[in-house]
Amino acid sequence: MRLLVVGSGGREHALAWKIARSPEVSKLYAAPGNPGIARVAECAPIKAEALDDLTAFAARERIDLAVVGPELPLTLGLADRLADRGVAVFGPSRAAAELEGSKVFAKELMAKYGVPTARFAVFAEAVEARAYVRTLGAPLVVKADGLAGGKGALVCRSLAEADEAIRAMLEGKVFGRAGERVVIEECLEGEEVSFFALTDGEQALPLAFAQDHKPVFDGDQGPNTGGMGAYSPVPTLGERLADELLETVVTPTLRAMAAEGRPYRGLLYVGLMLTRDGPRVLEFNCRFGDPETQPLMLRLDGDLVPLLAAVARGEGLPPRLHWRPEAAVTVVLASGGYPGEYATGKPIAGLEAAEELPGVVIFHAGTALREGRLVTAGGRVLGVSALGADLEAAVETAYEAASRISFEGMHYRRDIGQRALRRPPGR
Ligand SMILES: Nc1ncnc2c1ncn2[C@@H]1O[C@H](COP(=O)(O)OP(=O)(O)O)[C@@H](O)[C@H]1O
Ligand SMILES: [Mg+2]
Repeated sequence: MRLLVVGSGGREHALAWKIARSPEVSKLYAAPGNPGIARVAECAPIKAEALDDLTAFAARERIDLAVVGPELPLTLGLADRLADRGVAVFGPSRAAAELEGSKVFAKELMAKYGVPTARFAVFAEAVEARAYVRTLGAPLVVKADGLAGGKGALVCRSLAEADEAIRAMLEGKVFGRAGERVVIEECLEGEEVSFFALTDGEQALPLAFAQDHKPVFDGDQGPNTGGMGAYSPVPTLGERLADELLETVVTPTLRAMAAEGRPYRGLLYVGLMLTRDGPRVLEFNCRFGDPETQPLMLRLDGDLVPLLAAVARGEGLPPRLHWRPEAAVTVVLASGGYPGEYATGKPIAGLEAAEELPGVVIFHAGTALREGRLVTAGGRVLGVSALGADLEAAVETAYEAASRISFEGMHYRRDIGQRALRRPPGR
């Protein structure tokens, strides 16, 4: 099979790394890829949003299966465009990707079909939004409707904060068209978890649980990032919870999407709050998580390619996935200043020494080659990943590897996985 991975981050490197190990693969391309991906795939310099060029490339190279990593090309309709040219695609159609591309769509779908989520209302007018927040009371959450690079959801501790969020989005247009409408919802309390399911539109197959770390500093301090690290499995989250989420959230959502004429195929990412009254959906994403995919690919046992192909072609899924019993962790090494402003082009040293450690795989996120030297090229630079006999061992190995790598301004969290290590197994 000839495959194309679309995207250039750590998630895409992890997917390409796993795909490249499949005996089914005769040729693997990535677009645009990155220097890490280039070790397992041939990179074509086409941006993930360049729909015309990607479609032409896939047709010319007789791609059998395209795997789309990021949400933006999916919401722009890349899957539809490729399918029109006869290329099987892992990733939802434009109509189905609305589940992530529009929070208003997702919330209204959940309300219509009884999928549990926070109480909410939708507004385009600031005056009405301000009146509503006064009926709801603080704390509450104001969310831009469209894609906002992870910056569009604001948890407001006071009405003044809510007024400011409403002003910025509806009047200040800080997110442009993505903020023309806002969802305002009640603030939920509980543990936040992510749940992933592969689906062909009818059946759904849960992936193992993985936990992300959004805030930039140790102890969940500081501003949110794209994700500073992840681990899997999560000792407190097990098969019972997975079954409950399949039954109460995933299956009803897939039925709803089918009933709306938007069958959902690909990876469904459900962001949830486990409240005292049960799980509540915070949001849906239409693609794999980054960095959760990195530890998951280290743990997935067996061939990923037939699974992706079965989903893409709607051929039916196997009854379950197999996971290695070991634990995996990814520690993200970030540029100085990230998630704020940061410099790029800083030379990276020590990768070979880090990769010598048994069980270590380093996924590239924001790297580039300049005159033959590996340099930084993004906020999240590398995902230092390790597989270990248990989480403690994986964490120790990953941090040993991280300590061998350096670039100017490099910073990373020192407590990835600590929450699980401190807590006895439960649910
Ligand atoms: N109703 C809610 N109650 C409490 N926290 C929330 C709520 N909605 C979102 N959050 C918090 O805000 C974060 C971002 O919201 P989310 O809906 O995932 O949007 P996005 O990922 O697009 O920014 C969540 O990960 C969660 O921590
Ligand atoms: Mg989110």
